[in-house]
Amino acid sequence: QTSLPDIDPAKLQIHKTTSPKPIPPSETLKFGHVFTDHMLAISWTQQEGWAAPEIRPYGPLTLDPSSTVFHYAQCLFEGLKAYRDVHGRVTLFRPDMNMARMNRSAHRIALPNFDGAALLDVLKQLIRLDKHWIPQEKGHSLYIRPVLIGTQQTIGISPPESALLYVICSPVGPYYPNGFKPVALHGTTEHVRASPGGTGAYKIGANYAPGVYPQKEAAQLGYVQNLWLYGSEHYLTEVGTMNLFVVFKHEDGSFELVTPPLDGMILPGVTRDSVLSLARSHASGALRLPHLGRLTVTERAVTMPEVREAAQAGRLVEMFGTGTAAIISTIDRIGYDGQDVVIPVEADGMGPVSRSLWTEIVGRQTGAIPSEWSVVV
Ligand code: COI
Repeated sequence: QTSLPDIDPAKLQIHKTTSPKPIPPSETLKFGHVFTDHMLAISWTQQEGWAAPEIRPYGPLTLDPSSTVFHYAQCLFEGLKAYRDVHGRVTLFRPDMNMARMNRSAHRIALPNFDGAALLDVLKQLIRLDKHWIPQEKGHSLYIRPVLIGTQQTIGISPPESALLYVICSPVGPYYPNGFKPVALHGTTEHVRASPGGTGAYKIGANYAPGVYPQKEAAQLGYVQNLWLYGSEHYLTEVGTMNLFVVFKHEDGSFELVTPPLDGMILPGVTRDSVLSLARSHASGALRLPHLGRLTVTERAVTMPEVREAAQAGRLVEMFGTGTAAIISTIDRIGYDGQDVVIPVEADGMGPVSRSLWTEIVGRQTGAIPSEWSVVV
């Protein structure tokens, strides 16, 4: 099987649209509702491996109703963004991490693996073709959504003998309808997002559908997202579709930045990793984050009672979520155990650590701060 063809950028076929769509003004964009003129599609079969990649006009897929994706959620996806940087270049942020995670997700649900560098190569060609769709406004970008689905026509459940990898692109602004403002969370204990030994660490479609109903419940109670709490101890895991960070203040005035460890229940987020890496560089003295003093960075279990106690004692500095879609999103209150725990937020909607890290990350995404994380398309 290893001798079967992998994704081959040299075989890319490009069929351009003859009717380009009008590009809507950025201020009217609702996250993920508008798509560019083209898409990338690559099919795979167990007998023949990966077929020639094709860039073609954006449009419907024709799939047999028995395709395994429809009944068994044989589906995974990624999320990354293309930016128009301050030098006018089109860039991606750490796309190698998305390719690696996509392959890990594929392995976990028995979908075919592929050469991540080759997919990145053809994905760049798609972005070059649709680069005029990248919004210029601050905080805007082109969200890129690679998807891999099982397409075998059967009701049997087994590794699919055919699959389809496709990539679509959507010009986006803020993820949350309230823009770049802090979000209120509903501490959810009655539903779990992930459990030990489960699939929470993989970006598979099946992890997301079960989160929609709890999200609806949270919205009905006046919150923006769920805070997924796990076990009788109420361990903090993730926020809606984001990784989670908490900042405590110690008695000596230093800050501790905490995030739950990658124990199999946490998605290894690219923004999560970037936040940890920058914060650790500051902690070690290799990088100086402005306006931040002594900081320790820990990946450890943290419970909601610990957060509530710290909030009551004035030792909670801030909390925020991280994700490709939302970047860094601060949290201003958490509904927990019948009451709201108030989380400190400063006048600009951020806190000392999130502000500093947001500047560093967005600076690297927009080219304002030179970084090897930024990859020119
Ligand atoms: C992302 O942050 O990129 C995600 O994949 C979350 C998604 C539900 C928008």
